[in-house]
This record gives sequence, structure tokens and C-alpha cells, in this order.
Amino acid sequence: MRRFTKSTKLDNVLYDVRGPVVDEAARMEATGTHVLKLNIGNPAPFGFRTPDEVIYDMAHQLPECEGYSASKGLFSARKAIMQYAQLKNLPNVSIDDIYTGNGVSELINLSMSALLDNGDEVLIPSPDYPLWTACVNLAGGTAVHYLCDEQSEWYPDIDDMRSKITDKTKAIVVINPNNPTGALYPKEVLQQIVDLAREHQLMIFSDEIYDRLVMDGLQHVSIASLAPDLFCVTFSGLSKSHMIAGYRVGWMVLSGNKNVARDYIEGLNMLTNMRICSNVPAQSIVQTALGGHQSVNDYIVPGGRIYEQRDYIYNALNSIPGVTAVKPKAAFYIFPKLDVKKFNISDDEQFALDLLHDERILITRGGGFNWHEPDHFRIVYLPRIEVLKDATAKLTDFLSYYRQ
Ligand SMILES: Cc1ncc(COP(=O)(O)O)c(C=O)c1O
Repeated sequence: MRRFTKSTKLDNVLYDVRGPVVDEAARMEATGTHVLKLNIGNPAPFGFRTPDEVIYDMAHQLPECEGYSASKGLFSARKAIMQYAQLKNLPNVSIDDIYTGNGVSELINLSMSALLDNGDEVLIPSPDYPLWTACVNLAGGTAVHYLCDEQSEWYPDIDDMRSKITDKTKAIVVINPNNPTGALYPKEVLQQIVDLAREHQLMIFSDEIYDRLVMDGLQHVSIASLAPDLFCVTFSGLSKSHMIAGYRVGWMVLSGNKNVARDYIEGLNMLTNMRICSNVPAQSIVQTALGGHQSVNDYIVPGGRIYEQRDYIYNALNSIPGVTAVKPKAAFYIFPKLDVKKFNISDDEQFALDLLHDERILITRGGGFNWHEPDHFRIVYLPRIEVLKDATAKLTDFLSYYRQ
């Protein structure tokens, strides 16, 4: 009997955010066990709602969204994104440089597929949002991880980044604000990355999907704004800032020195045409979403849900013996460290499974973010404080006896 096996290209791909521990949680749920999911950055199930105006405008426009749009997207959406790019000081951006996608996810995949030949290297943070690594490897490239330093607010370690550059390196990926650490990079750090990219003639890909979820009065700086002479691709979308991850809409913006990337842009256009266009109803509300009052701002200030939940989880985790965590400045993730000696932990997947079985709490292990020590895990702090209180009480109890 002929057997059908998956492509060997997938042998190099790790995507543990939806991996064996998640499968085990699904199995438990199928048998009637309630599992508290602190593993996915999906705001809607936790009671976050998009403004009514967004829903209204989409409903209103639905009859006009029955056909395909232009492959890069609707003019109105791209114009609004272009204006947003202007506000973020992205240099040399015209409407032709804007591509909408079915979420940032699709565009990460597309942008890496268009770039990489076998053996090409891309510098990616560790820890990372693992789709980046997966897409680089799937495209035949090699993801080379540079360290982000927990001792320095999880900022990229520039010396480590420099040491990883070879003659095969094509690009640097920056995830700012960062998932899973919640870090926000200051201008000085971004400037050092730009200097390195300039010295070695590298492209910069910047995933900024959390740029409107920044707390403590801090300002997000787009790295592309510091690099008018380099070729940059900046990604963002509405999944997180407008709590509509299910609608699937994101974008990428090409900026800076596009002359050096003419051939690459041709490849991007080909792949964009091949998938015809992104979800048109979702594109139809980009203009509404990006204009006027930004409802997300109410969540990220004192008294707002994300801000208060961030403060709660940060304090609660740091009060558990054997757990420490850097305070996140943006997004809705925290990446705590476990004292592996105290808990005798050598396998973070086992830790996640044991926590799931004992307390019915689902977290993602650090390894799922291409972090190479078994000493971290990520919590999504989107649930309300009452739920987080219950979760941290259970985690405290679990860690009082847990030894691997
Ligand atoms: C850093 C980062 N980039 C991209 C995405 C994907 O977003 P989208 O819903 O736009 O595909 C996520 C989702 O969690 C993310 O955390």
C-alpha cells in the first residue's frame, strides 16, 4: 500500500505554539476537563471586543466585498496604511509599497518564500515568535538565532547578533514590541541594529503587530524610520490592536532604498498575485480601524484591562519562590524564568505537560519560541484578573511540590 508522508521540508519546522502539549489539552477537553488556556494571544475569547463601528462598517460594506480585490489590496485600506506609515516616519513609501495579507502570518510566509534560496541565513531573535523561524526554514533558508538578553530588559544582544553574521546572511528580523517577552526596544538599540545592517548590507524585516499596545507612556519607534538608506519591510495588522484576530487582516510596508530590492519586489508581486488577494471584508474596515479614536488606548493605561492585568501577573509571578520575570512594556505576554536547579527541570515540555495534568493550565514552553534552555515559559495575560488570580494560586501550589 502506498503511504503518503509529509514533505521532508517540514522536518526542519518547529511550531510548538500549536504542538503536543496543545494536543494533550484538546484531548483533556474532549473528555470534559476544563483547561485554562494561557497559551494563545487571541483577545476575543477573553472578552475583548472590537468597536461597534468596525463591525457596523464591515456589515455595511459586505455587499461590495463579493469580488476579489487588487492583489495588494483595496485602495482605501492601502491608503490608510500608507498614512499610518507616514505617521510612523517610514521613509519613501508610496501606495505601491503596501501589501495587505490574511494576517501578518501570511505575509511573513510570503516575504520569506520570495527571498530565500537554500542555505541563505536570516537572523531571528531568540526567543522569537516561532512563525518567523518556521517560515525561514520552510523556504529553504536557515534561521540563525541571536540572543535577546533578559538582564537588559530582553533587548537584542548586539554583539551576539554581530557574531552570527556570515557571508550567507541576507536579513535581520526584529520583533518589536516583542512576543513572547513583551519588550519594547528603545531608539538607541534599534540604531545599533540599523548600523549593523548598513555595515553588512542586510535587509531588515520588522514585525510590529503590537506597536499600538505600548504601556507606561513609552513610544514605539519603527526601525525603518531610522534606515532611509536600507531596504526595510515593516509588518503590522489589526488582529491585536483591534481584537479581531479572526478577521485575518494585516499588512506589510516596503520602505527606504527600494532600488536594491527590485528583483525581490518582483518576486513578492508574483507570490502576491498567485494567492489572488487577501480577505476583502476585513480589508474594508482598515480605514475605519486606523482612523479616529483608538479604543485600544483605553486598555493600556492605568485602570485599563491590559495594563492592570500586566501589573497583576508581573507581581504575582515574581512573588512565587523560584520564579522571576521582567516587566513587559507592551503586548500581552510575559516570559517568566524558572529556577531549574530548585525544580530540577531539564525538559520544559515535560514541565508544561505536568502543569497541564496537575492544574489544568495550558502555557507554552520556552522551547516553543526557539529558546534553547528549559528555563522559561510564556503566559498570555489576556484573562481577567480573577482568572489570573486563580491561575497564579494554582501555579504557586504546583511549584511548591514540583520537582522534575
Ligand atoms: C509577533 C507576531 N507576529 C505576527 C503574528 C500573527 O498575526 P496575524 O493574526 O496578523 O497573522 C502574531 C500573532 O500572535 C505575533 O505575535
